[in-house]
Amino acid sequence: MANQEDVFKKVISHAKEYGYVFQSSEIYDGLSAVYDYGQNGAELKKNIREYWWQAMVQLHDNIVGIDAAIFMHPTTWKASGHVDAFNDPLIDNKDSKKRYRADVLVEDYVAKIEGKIDKEVTKAAKRFGEAFDKEQFLATNGRVKGYREKAEAILKRLGKSLEKEDLADVKALIEELEIVCPVSGSKNWTDVKQFNLMFGTQLGATAESAMELYLRPETAQGIFVNFLNVQKTGRMKIPFGIAQTGKAFRNEIVARQFIFRMREFEQMEMQYFIKPGTQQEWYEAWKEKRMNWHLSLGMGEANYRFHDHEKLAHYADAACDIEFKFPFGFKELEGIHSRTDFDLGSHEKYSNKKLQYFDPEENKSYVPYVLETSIGLDRMFLAVFSNSLQEEELDNNTTRTVLKLPAVLAPTKAAILPLLKRDGLPEIAQKLFNELKWEMNVAYDDKDAVGRRYRRQDAIATPFCITVDHQTLEDETVTIRHRDSMEQQRVKLAAVKEIITKAVALKEWLGRV
Ligand code: GAP
Repeated sequence: MANQEDVFKKVISHAKEYGYVFQSSEIYDGLSAVYDYGQNGAELKKNIREYWWQAMVQLHDNIVGIDAAIFMHPTTWKASGHVDAFNDPLIDNKDSKKRYRADVLVEDYVAKIEGKIDKEVTKAAKRFGEAFDKEQFLATNGRVKGYREKAEAILKRLGKSLEKEDLADVKALIEELEIVCPVSGSKNWTDVKQFNLMFGTQLGATAESAMELYLRPETAQGIFVNFLNVQKTGRMKIPFGIAQTGKAFRNEIVARQFIFRMREFEQMEMQYFIKPGTQQEWYEAWKEKRMNWHLSLGMGEANYRFHDHEKLAHYADAACDIEFKFPFGFKELEGIHSRTDFDLGSHEKYSNKKLQYFDPEENKSYVPYVLETSIGLDRMFLAVFSNSLQEEELDNNTTRTVLKLPAVLAPTKAAILPLLKRDGLPEIAQKLFNELKWEMNVAYDDKDAVGRRYRRQDAIATPFCITVDHQTLEDETVTIRHRDSMEQQRVKLAAVKEIITKAVALKEWLGRV
């Protein structure tokens, strides 16, 4: 089996080779942690965004969507706490002069311990064969229990130190664990210091009149400052939600792992405004709803887990992540945060404007509490893309590379392939193409042998190939070849549109959880 690093390298090169993701400004040697999406990537990204939007806005009659500006009044970021508290703890290695996030160094150390646990599981699974019970093994094996306890103790201490802003203890932990710089191999570390992640810029033409601005580090604040606008104009009653997708910017120091951690990225966030005191109930409800959204894509329950935050952000009274098993291990994909009345309350103070809701049932006004769901679109892209890329051994001793994206998200839903470029086959294929293009993205491909065309479509994730052949001339049937099973099905030409439309319909996917 290929190791994690090789798998991840394949993901990155496949994304480039097939027009999904390119390094930004590549002809100038690129810009670190900034990426562009190519012709297929832009479609996949759009489809993920739409799948989220439909699940949140279209399917909830009490959630509406907005599109706020990236630039916001600078006081927004004072009120939100980002100016004072949106920091990463950084540490430099004095020999290599490289800078690291101190918490990430420790987390990487813990990930190595988790890797050892995985190895023990794989070994035991081999030894016990079919009788292997993974849960029992994890709960009872002495070595595994030891690893788990060690990992938990380290993360707990890290969480506590960060929460107390005890940066000296974070450094002490790095030294006690004997963590070395991956570049110099030395343990010659500086003290840990805080570093603000917001990008600054200026609004205005002259130096005197210019106003210092930030590029937004999260989309959420655009929702908070519009809370009353939406509530009043939409006559919304609590509980209700406001959803938004859009770009966010963070000057990430540990910018690596491809599109996992970027400096410019896109978020899909929803703030659910609720009655104070009901936050626990809504926290649980949204955890379940969001997990179901992920599971609806059919990427395997075992690839997800909840992870409660050890260190709560400055605004939260409860928070967890939905983690996904990326090629480099389980990592945060989405956050679910109970943000209390921190944001609205703070904006009230800084703006001197009331941001309250009059509750007709209670006959009083209050600042609502907020339950937030926040997912990175690019990170979701990486989760779906990396999980879908597979190398398969075929019966005839060949292999195929196939990108098994959930059909509802695939950039192109079907490819129309005339078997030959003559005998009237192209005319029928072109007619089918012209009919389907009104409903979905379709491709037309008449080059090379049909087997090679199938492989090309497999690599870019097209779930259906429709071949027009000589039998079509006789009985008006075509073959539909299914990407994942490679099965071929003979169907009436007139039925193709309905079959594919149904297979990629929202209800077929989101409706099943
Ligand atoms: N409004 C809350 C908020 O922004 P967060 O946990 O900082 O919370 C939410 O970010 C999500 O945004 C993360 O779970 C992740 O998917 C995504 N995200 C955060 N930083 C990112 C980065 N540098 N690159 C890509 N995605 C990122």
